[in-house]
Amino acid sequence: MPLNIDKGLAGTVAADTALSFIDGAKGVLEYAGYDIDSLARNSTFEESTWLLWNGRLPTAAELTAFTASLQACSDLDPRLIELIRGIPKTTAPMDALRTSVSALGHFDPEADDNSPEANRRKALRLVARTPALIAVFDRLRKGKPLVAPDRSLSVAGNFLWMLTGARPTAAMEKALDVCLVLHADHGLNASTFAARVTIATQSDLYSAATTAVGTLKGPLHGGANQEVMEMLLEIGDLSKVDGYIKEKLARKERIMGFGHRVYKAYDPRATYLKTFAKQVASDTGNLALYEMSRRIEEIVLAQPNLIEKGIFPNVDFYSATTYYSLGLDLDLFTCVFAASRMSGWAGHCIEQLAANKLIRPHADYTGPHGLRYAPIGERAVSATSSTIPSARQAMSVAAGSNASSM
Ligand SMILES: CC(C)(COP(=O)(O)OP(=O)(O)OC[C@H]1O[C@@H](n2cnc3c(N)ncnc32)[C@H](O)[C@@H]1OP(=O)(O)O)[C@@H](O)C(=O)NCCC(=O)NCCS
Repeated sequence: MPLNIDKGLAGTVAADTALSFIDGAKGVLEYAGYDIDSLARNSTFEESTWLLWNGRLPTAAELTAFTASLQACSDLDPRLIELIRGIPKTTAPMDALRTSVSALGHFDPEADDNSPEANRRKALRLVARTPALIAVFDRLRKGKPLVAPDRSLSVAGNFLWMLTGARPTAAMEKALDVCLVLHADHGLNASTFAARVTIATQSDLYSAATTAVGTLKGPLHGGANQEVMEMLLEIGDLSKVDGYIKEKLARKERIMGFGHRVYKAYDPRATYLKTFAKQVASDTGNLALYEMSRRIEEIVLAQPNLIEKGIFPNVDFYSATTYYSLGLDLDLFTCVFAASRMSGWAGHCIEQLAANKLIRPHADYTGPHGLRYAPIGERAVSATSSTIPSARQAMSVAAGSNASSM
């Protein structure tokens, strides 16, 4: 079979999906045929999740039953809470989430049942419990008492309640809900692909979700929203935006929250979020941060070389100020993304298993061939013999990629 080399797999189709459709050139995203802008304006996270998992919008009765099932399983097993209590308080929340999503499987008797029915039940538990896992770790690390889930609230409302111990206002609940809708699915992005690779080995849904959380963590994927906020806080003031961004561009550094592997037009998730973020920022006294974001966008969009490369704001750019305005700690931003994307990850895993094929690409071998195996006493150290980068090389590669991704 002739092999194509496609580093980064940008030109490879590795799965069929009926969950979401993206046209990167036109800036289109649809969940099961419904464009993201109308879902963000009119739908809820519960309804969008149902849509992704069923391929159609629910009736009122279906949505009520689905919402009730989510609310019914947001409790965490007390033994799992003890396990989370054992995670060092200094652990990054995304790392704690990776551990606790994995641990969810220990307390689910259906963990290894890969029947579609069991996987749908586990998908429901994963979506309902992920916000609880994040809130429990956050409160434990801050030495605060835990807050029991409130089964009368939406996923977004319950998350804010469990995190803060205060009833969220309708506006706060809506703001988080919109972000959850916008992040719920996005084609074969890196973490969804990782989840599909894991489930395709006929592993289990908890393993796939754990893989996905670990993949989402990186700053080139879900970690960008936190870096956007760090950048805004580092700039500190509207008057300093121009100097800061122009210097960064002159140093050929990346502006976090801009650019996308698929979108070479405006990210359709950012369109509504931009106006919405303004309202939330204004309601919470954070308009200055929003205005800094707008100025950054103006500067980036005025760079002909970046426009040529299709660099526009992505969803992370305006979700950063929205999360900040909701009072979320910066290191929880990517966790919120994970809580939302759990819906897409689970849906993709169930879809993968319905027509499964092991995902196993090739690597282009670049090392030597036919070497003679020498007994250990006869071996000489050769500077060129290493097939993987030495520690020193690896460190300089990492530093280079950090510099270019900041
Ligand atoms: C998302 C991202 C990884 C997509 O990467 P990709 O499709 O592999 O594209 P590349 O990294 O090859 O970048 C293509 C070109 O655009 C430039 N570019 C990409 N993102 C850029 C950014 N945010 N700021 C400035 N330049 C950028 C690159 O420097 C590169 O230029 P070159 O061809 O002259 O070397 C990339 O745009 C990025 O790093 N963005 C910042 C992180 C971010 O916001 N991630 C969240 C995504 S939702």
